[in-house]
Amino acid sequence: MKFTKAIILLLACGATLYAQKGKKAAQKIKPRNEFVSELMAKMTIEEKIAQLVQFTADGTVTGPKGGDNFIEEIKKGNVGSILNATNVKYTRQLQELNMANSRLKIPLLFGYDVIHGYRTIFPITLGESSSWDPAIAELASKVAAAEAAASGIHWTFAPMVDIARDPRWGRVSEGAGEDTYLGSKLAMARVKGFQGTDLSAVNTILACTKHFAAYGAAEAGRDYNTVDMSERVLRETYLPPFKATVDAGVRTFMTSFNEISGVPATGNKFLLRDILKGEWKFDGFVVTDYTAINELIPHGFAKDSMQAGELSMVAGVDMDMVGGIYLKSLKKLLSQGKVTEAQINDACKRILEAKYDLGLFEDPYRYNDEKREKQEINKKEYLDAALLAANKSMVLLKNSNNVLPLKREQKVAFVGPLVSDEWNIIGSWAATGDRNGYAVSVEEGVKKLISDKSKVSFSKGVEIIDAKRDMMKAALESAAQADVIVAVMGEFENMTGEAASRTVIDLPGIQKEFLAELKKLGKPVVLVLMNGRPLTLSWENENMDAILEAWFPGTMGGDAIAQTLYGLNNPGGKLTMTFPRTLGQVPIYYNHKNTGRPYLGAKDPEQKYKSRYIDSDNSPLYPFGYGLSYTSFAYSNLKLSSKNMNANGTIKVTIDVSNTGNYDGEEVVQLYVKDKIGSVTRPMRELKGFKKILLKKGEKQTVEFELSADDLRFYDIKMQFVAEPGDFEVFVGGSSAAALSDTFVLVK
Ligand code: BGC
Repeated sequence: MKFTKAIILLLACGATLYAQKGKKAAQKIKPRNEFVSELMAKMTIEEKIAQLVQFTADGTVTGPKGGDNFIEEIKKGNVGSILNATNVKYTRQLQELNMANSRLKIPLLFGYDVIHGYRTIFPITLGESSSWDPAIAELASKVAAAEAAASGIHWTFAPMVDIARDPRWGRVSEGAGEDTYLGSKLAMARVKGFQGTDLSAVNTILACTKHFAAYGAAEAGRDYNTVDMSERVLRETYLPPFKATVDAGVRTFMTSFNEISGVPATGNKFLLRDILKGEWKFDGFVVTDYTAINELIPHGFAKDSMQAGELSMVAGVDMDMVGGIYLKSLKKLLSQGKVTEAQINDACKRILEAKYDLGLFEDPYRYNDEKREKQEINKKEYLDAALLAANKSMVLLKNSNNVLPLKREQKVAFVGPLVSDEWNIIGSWAATGDRNGYAVSVEEGVKKLISDKSKVSFSKGVEIIDAKRDMMKAALESAAQADVIVAVMGEFENMTGEAASRTVIDLPGIQKEFLAELKKLGKPVVLVLMNGRPLTLSWENENMDAILEAWFPGTMGGDAIAQTLYGLNNPGGKLTMTFPRTLGQVPIYYNHKNTGRPYLGAKDPEQKYKSRYIDSDNSPLYPFGYGLSYTSFAYSNLKLSSKNMNANGTIKVTIDVSNTGNYDGEEVVQLYVKDKIGSVTRPMRELKGFKKILLKKGEKQTVEFELSADDLRFYDIKMQFVAEPGDFEVFVGGSSAAALSDTFVLVK
């Protein structure tokens, strides 16, 4: 297993990226405050409003078409920002057009959805989160920023930090899963990766935390749908990853499409002015999601676009994405006294400050160097980083009789619709990532490792969705010749992402039917999955010998899968979203509450009237935090440094972890806490710490965590964020089902 090599590679990659920083712009200008206030003193109200306007170019389509002609609007000096324009040449053309028409020479800001890579594509974010490794998340974002910046982009609409507990929702693929604590750590790392420590460096870009807020709680997992939740759940579960990015210095925020308890996020003063800009003191700017101001009308919140513009400005929205409402309404609203000049000035100032910090006033073309663009895109070290991230994202869900890793001398039949695929493997929303002819397929990855052609065969068998059976026979015939069968299956990439909710989360099409035929051959069958959400895999878990969750692993995905199957990479990923047994259990997540049934001391705890299904167990198929390895780990000797914690004190939690198997391997050691009794009820357990460790075969390590009263805080009955004295239970292990536990008391 190539761990040492991987770590050296990671560090080397980081080092080169850091070394690229610091290229300063040619012209020196006044310090930011002075510069921006002098500029604003010269600006007319129309020029200020223009800064608050973003239109889409005609490249990538990420929403409904707007009616406005962005070229004409740039010529009129009506635009502050453009999205969906890429590459140095095109962005330069648009910038030149803007500079020729901007009276005060205010540059355009170019935004783009750089979600999991720009040209070199990393695993989808949900996959990457399975690494439980903030360094990987930071590295992936850093590479994405370097490529995007070299391509004329100033601003990405990422990280998406929506906590998601419903796998029907297609956008779970863009986030870090269901947990607030882990999600916060990964969100911070991604901001650091995109923005670096110096925005004026030519390889960093503005990050944008989205979608504010609670978009992941859309009812029934249907995209854009209603959200209704208590302020306690909002603050405790959904908001912390957003706050974490403010603490990490994120420069922009995006509102969400959904309403929250009756108030759409884009017109939500409580969220934007009171919490984000007030309590959290966020000093960057807020952009809406795509046409979200216009959507206040169908939401039934604004009667027309004038009122929609008013409500958004009053709520604290600084920039209008695509909808054109600010451009048409703000001046009139100002004259009617419905918005204030101070509000418009504040929004404009925030946007100009971001442009200043990027160095655009010094040189509007500083991200437009064609030579740099050629050198930066798809560099070898970026591809290596993508391979590393893909390897770290693999989650081994089942491995009976150690069927994996495969042995080189075995004859292996690779079958399934994704076996030679170069399209879906990079996942949805892959920016300008190349697919066919560029991304590494599983077939290609395997062929790089196994040169003896007689040992491997490749056939499709079935399609992902189409129920065509004409290829099945040939694939079964080749599978019948093999010692082991590997079926590479999953979802079509566009079955996840925006506007891609599903009501069934089984393997699509007739893939399962094909698996059943393969099983009849009596050989071990390994299922390799590419998908962007938890799937229902009860049948597969029952019938397959091994299951490897590869997610959509990106440009280098085929290499990573091949290396993992043949044991050059020992999978160490852990799930960040619960996999249900059946869709009827959804929403299902590990940190749920208990119910009152059965009551303590009930005579017959097994009687009918308790909280359960009559046709399924309550437990998930695979819990949050779960993932196997080719080796095995044993946990022992859980110790707390004290049985009591003081309000200002800490306790240390230690545990011994041993590698008891035959391979070196990585393990994510997880710490959970349960607050037994509260003034409001508390979850069954909550993640409060994790450490990823590498243990050599036979090695043992003592892992230490520190817990303080701060870690035990929650919103009490009076909505105060406090830790309540009382009994706590600690669990440590390799998943959220960790069994080893001990207790302590938080004393007054
Ligand atoms: C999505 C955002 C995205 C924006 C711009 C919207 O439809 O919800 O996540 O950043 O489009 O492309």
